[in-house]
Amino acid sequence: MSLLMIPGPTTPAQRVMLAMSRPLINHRGPEFKLLLEEIQTGLKYVFQTENPIVILTSSGTGGMEFAVSNVINKSDTVIVPTMGFFCDRFAEIVEACGGRVSRIQIEWGSSVKPDMVEEAFARERNVKAILIIHNETSTGVLVRDLAEISRIAHDHDALVIVDAISSLGGVELLTDKWSIDACVTGSQKCIAAPPGLAFVSVSERFIEEAKRVNRGVYFNLKAYLEYMERGQTPYTPSIPLLYALSEALKMIREEGLEARIARHRKCAKAFYRAIEALDLEPYPFEYEYRSKTVIAVKTPKNIDSEELVKTMRLKHSVVVSGGQGKLRGSIFRIGCMGNVSAYEVLATVNALESSLAYLGYGVEKVGVGLAEAGKVLWSS
Ligand SMILES: Cc1ncc(COP(=O)(O)O)c(C=O)c1O
Repeated sequence: MSLLMIPGPTTPAQRVMLAMSRPLINHRGPEFKLLLEEIQTGLKYVFQTENPIVILTSSGTGGMEFAVSNVINKSDTVIVPTMGFFCDRFAEIVEACGGRVSRIQIEWGSSVKPDMVEEAFARERNVKAILIIHNETSTGVLVRDLAEISRIAHDHDALVIVDAISSLGGVELLTDKWSIDACVTGSQKCIAAPPGLAFVSVSERFIEEAKRVNRGVYFNLKAYLEYMERGQTPYTPSIPLLYALSEALKMIREEGLEARIARHRKCAKAFYRAIEALDLEPYPFEYEYRSKTVIAVKTPKNIDSEELVKTMRLKHSVVVSGGQGKLRGSIFRIGCMGNVSAYEVLATVNALESSLAYLGYGVEKVGVGLAEAGKVLWSS
């Protein structure tokens, strides 16, 4: 069996996978209501919110579309900082809803900053929303200034919509404290459940806007809220996935969110230390904005990242990802999320340095990355 170290899906614990074999229940019955209540409580803990959280049977992109289509009307202006592949997807969804995208163009590998957001609001009037990708999975960049960006947007009366698909549950994100109107995530990344579910927390203000827009059928917020009152979802949910989610959320409670975030931080630090010891360069060029959940690395000159990924998979059974979009061939990405621990970090670093040596890069460096990663992992 391979070790899956891509930036999602991650490998759920066995107890999470086994939960899916429980017998099905009536999704309009009392047992389901209890299951949903338990899940709401668990999700609220992970999101750090008192807002209701909509559960969608869809992948993360469905959650992004839900968060946009419920509030964005034809000709609404929406600010989108674009700094990678998923930011572009957010912009595309706005345009599909008839909205007008005002981009903050940011070089890939860098992050949006509060002053850029101030400038964007100074140049636009009547902005309906700002859309932020908290952790740009294609470039391995984490937006650190979300609280400040949210404050600026609210000062201009705009909604704050955040895609935290590759960060929530592995990185600090305080939905209520930072006044995020809609926060989106998926089941398959830091929450470490199987893929197939998306979650969207919705603020009071977001709900009011959505009631006015009242768009769609399957992704209509009003329907989800009405059914939520009864402890149901409006359409038949994936009950096995909800069992798995419930178990994954129990595991998060058992570990504690703070400890979970600290574990992600430590594993990421070990990866970066190993990468530097191997004389490799992380793709994000601003140290403080390096992601704690997706480690994006430039492939050394003369080595194609697709070749490196293939060698790691075939020779070491460790599966990492190449680059997306315009970064295909020039970077590789390691998922550092979910149940990641010292075992996964060391196995991946070992596969990386051995594969690089096989491809002709730094035979003398084999073992150096492991030693450096170990120093971080075994420090208190
Ligand atoms: C930041 C981000 N947004 C959106 C998505 C899309 O999620 P999905 O593939 O579950 O639709 C991903 C998936 O990798 C992601 O990392």
